[in-house]
Amino acid sequence: MSHFLVHSAATLLLQLVAQGQLDMEGALTARDRVGIQDFVLLDETTEAAFLSNLKKRFSKDLIYTYIGTLLVSVNPYKELDIYNKKQMDIYMGVNFFELPPHIYALADNAYHTMLTEFNNHFILISGESGAGKTEASKKILQYYAVSCPSTTLLNTVRDKMLMSNPVLEAFGNAKTLKNDNSSRFGKYMDIQFDGQGDAVGGHILNYLLEKSRVVHQNHGERNFHIFYQLVEGGSDDLLHQLGLERGCQHYNYLTQNTFRNSVFSMFIVSNRGILLINYNFVQHLFEVIASVLHLGNVRFDSDSKGHALLNNNTELHWVSNLLGVDAHRLQEGLTFRKIEAKKDQVLSPFTTDHAIYARDALAKAIYGQTFTWLVNRINESMENKDPSRKTVIGLLDIYGFEVFYVNSFEQFCINYCNEKLQQLFIELTLKSEQEEYEAEGIEWEPVQFFNNKIICDLIEEKHRGIISLLDEECLRPGDATDLTFLERLEEKMGNHPHFVTHKLADKMTRKTLERGDFRLLHYAGEVTYCVVGFLDKNNDLLYRNIKDLMCQSKNDIVKECFSSMDPDSRRRPETVVTQFKSSLQKLTEILMAKEAWYIRCLKSNESKQSGQFDEALIRHQVKYLGLMEHLRVRRAGFAYRRKYDVFLKRYKPLCPATWPHWRGVAADGVEVLVQHLGYLPDEYKMGRTKIFIRHPRTLFATEDAYEKCKHELATRIQAKYKGYRAKGEYRKQKEAATKIESCWRGTQARKEKEKRAWAVKVIKKFIKGYMTRGQAKNTDNSEYLAFVRQNYLNRLRDNLPKTVLDKTTWLTPPAVLTEGSLFLFVVITVKFSIPFLSLQFQMKLITSSIFKGKKDSYPQSVAHPFSHHSYYCVPVIKYDRNGFKPRQRQLILTQTAVYVIEEAKIKQRVLYTSLKGQTSVLIYILLVDDSNTTFIWLFQGDLVVQCDHLFELLTKLCVIANKQNAIKVVQGSINFEIQAGKGGAVDFSTGPEPMVYKAKNGHLMVVSWALSLLSHVSVQTGYHFFFSDYI
Ligand SMILES: Nc1ncnc2c1ncn2[C@@H]1O[C@H](COP(=O)(O)OP(=O)(O)O)[C@@H](O)[C@H]1O
Ligand SMILES: [Mg+2]
Repeated sequence: MSHFLVHSAATLLLQLVAQGQLDMEGALTARDRVGIQDFVLLDETTEAAFLSNLKKRFSKDLIYTYIGTLLVSVNPYKELDIYNKKQMDIYMGVNFFELPPHIYALADNAYHTMLTEFNNHFILISGESGAGKTEASKKILQYYAVSCPSTTLLNTVRDKMLMSNPVLEAFGNAKTLKNDNSSRFGKYMDIQFDGQGDAVGGHILNYLLEKSRVVHQNHGERNFHIFYQLVEGGSDDLLHQLGLERGCQHYNYLTQNTFRNSVFSMFIVSNRGILLINYNFVQHLFEVIASVLHLGNVRFDSDSKGHALLNNNTELHWVSNLLGVDAHRLQEGLTFRKIEAKKDQVLSPFTTDHAIYARDALAKAIYGQTFTWLVNRINESMENKDPSRKTVIGLLDIYGFEVFYVNSFEQFCINYCNEKLQQLFIELTLKSEQEEYEAEGIEWEPVQFFNNKIICDLIEEKHRGIISLLDEECLRPGDATDLTFLERLEEKMGNHPHFVTHKLADKMTRKTLERGDFRLLHYAGEVTYCVVGFLDKNNDLLYRNIKDLMCQSKNDIVKECFSSMDPDSRRRPETVVTQFKSSLQKLTEILMAKEAWYIRCLKSNESKQSGQFDEALIRHQVKYLGLMEHLRVRRAGFAYRRKYDVFLKRYKPLCPATWPHWRGVAADGVEVLVQHLGYLPDEYKMGRTKIFIRHPRTLFATEDAYEKCKHELATRIQAKYKGYRAKGEYRKQKEAATKIESCWRGTQARKEKEKRAWAVKVIKKFIKGYMTRGQAKNTDNSEYLAFVRQNYLNRLRDNLPKTVLDKTTWLTPPAVLTEGSLFLFVVITVKFSIPFLSLQFQMKLITSSIFKGKKDSYPQSVAHPFSHHSYYCVPVIKYDRNGFKPRQRQLILTQTAVYVIEEAKIKQRVLYTSLKGQTSVLIYILLVDDSNTTFIWLFQGDLVVQCDHLFELLTKLCVIANKQNAIKVVQGSINFEIQAGKGGAVDFSTGPEPMVYKAKNGHLMVVSWALSLLSHVSVQTGYHFFFSDYI
């Protein structure tokens, strides 16, 4: 364990936050779904909590979880419906944390970061064999193929990139115990994008193909897929042409395995019309594969000396045929070794074992070289020749950490590679952390985690590492063997804490180790390597004569491959492991120059079963992949960091001082805000541009408060809005009121104006009238004169002389009324002094008080003087109450009674005293509208009469009987009692001719003239008459 001063989150976070692309808040709101989407937000960073979260999510088929921007993926071993076009669309251009974790989110984010920053990226996919790395890399490639802009030209490039996968998998993948489709080579693929984000090219780097698989496979494993695809899927013609028989049981290099491959990928390539490889070469490729299979079937006999013999072998002929080499020379090459002594060449025969070794070496070499050739061809076809600058996203899908029952040189290389990548991961992660802390001026805090540099050094250190010792053994003259190599290791590594052998081990450990084994304590666990074959595999020797022969091959592929091996060079070629080491070194350099993204793949169980979450297995992977450490590194210092302005923008409603606006610097606002929230000094740090929050719980509390506050705010905003609305309403009403008011005022003003205008006119007229008052009555002065007259009369009324004798106080009349005034003066002073005239006037006054304004015909009666006799007689028509028969009668009023007379015969006498009954209304005067024809019904006297001198009659009656208040003027109709229980009625209406008759309904119908008619008639006929007959 080593101490590192580490800042708490990874560079990527820094980069993303800097671009504003990272939205942890999305994860915050989503945190209550299934488990936690980002381990960084786990409440406690224990392994148990980590695994429990992983398990919870896995059980719901949520195989992806983040640690910040690192993606943890658990192999579900079943098809999930999360890789369709719809899903891709969802993730396109969306902020990383806004949606549930997905490999598309990571791919998309890397892509967009690349476009905005115009820099290079790589996605490191790691995990042990079978964890899902290759699948992940394919998914990313598919995502880019769909999501990037497309044109026909680009589609071709894209299709080639996609097509390269099955081809390389056919040649480079095989079924192992760990994985049915295990990559037996390392692959780093650059996808090149132009400035618009179009995928315009690709390039693949391949690493150390496990060639030994061509000639030997462990129990339960298989050779590379292509062999099976050919012998099981190739057409009869093709097989015949290649001298092959259908079925893998015919070939020594092929184990019999029921595992089936779905397609013959070579055909896919040509049938789709997208040629990664020229069709002629496809044929040569088949020849190479077939030749390898034939080689495997070449058997050697041995002569008496044990030398290998190869006579008339059909398989050999097929090989020479297919590879286009001379059969005899091939036979020689497989059974003799050419030794160059000075200028002579001596052939030294092989033992059978040696011959088999040489045969296998040739098979491996052909296959291995062909694989490299294939990669080169694919690269050529995907190459973008446009020299303009491009950015790339590199996809690294390299063989995962591997532990088998027996582990050999290949596992050693593979696991070394994984150590290197882990080292790279640690360095990049830490580096970015440190950079961020430095940039923010935050103090570093040490985080304990395992740094595997010590193992890397153990393996690759110059002169002292395992690789150096292996090379030394391979190159040194003398009898170097696998065992001498082991001894050398023991010698040099004796007390290294990560190295142990049978000899070095304590008793307990020794039991688990064979004598030919050495054990390395890798970061991912212990691996015991069997040294057998290490030297040979590292040397990878191919005898010279064979090599030379291959250079003359008529198969273009073989010829090209072996020619490039530089057969003339006297120098020994670099050993396999040294080549591998330097290629890894180059890879590290390539990767270090790019921005890193990580996908950590976990295997859910060893038996490739869906739905099985092998806790122990996963715990182990979590451990060695350093996920806990990574998490702790991310969280050690501070789990969360955010730019001040972003933080403030989100949480400012939580503090009155910052809500709704903070006017000052964002950092100060954040300080005020967190003070208000009660953050303890230890819980957060203020960086240069960001606030760092140590624990997720602090953030959660803040977020919860924010959620709550949001609702309150919503209510407040709602209330405000309602208020605003109401205010608007009020304003509207007020406006309306003002409008109405102004209209009203206008109207008033106009009225006022009219009034004034009218007043002016009146006054003008008045003045004019005044000025012309002396003239005869004309239009100018008539109104004025009327006014003067009226005015004078009114004044006169109030100022009449007190006695008739007073002749001095008479008001001086205006000129216009001189005559009238004199008349009045005479009337009043002379006529009023005559008693009967005075009485006459008094009677008229009473009439006025009774009828004025009540009966329209009244005014016409004013001018007629009343009779001045002490009794009064008037002709009337009396109607029977029963049949309404009209009868001419005289009505005579005496001082005591009313008499109804028929031709000097008294028919009826009604005493006034008898009128003083209980009924207040004694006399009805029935007036039909304005008829002069009037009916009096003397209630008590049962009298229904019609009389033309209504006003006089009634006034007299009232005065004599002293019943002024008993007269009531009614209209319409009246009902009365004919006798007890029997009613009668009189109806009034108007008509062209006055009539009285008994109507059909039995009522007395009285039709009178309308006033207008009446007045007309009255003028014409002057119909009134006095009776001078008195009783
Ligand atoms: N995302 C996935 N969904 C479904 N199955 C998967 C997924 N990833 C891996 N697998 C299954 O696991 C097998 C091994 O995956 P692979 O990517 O070849 O592992 P690796 O490359 O890490 O050795 C695949 O063949 C497939 O059956
Ligand atoms: Mg793989």
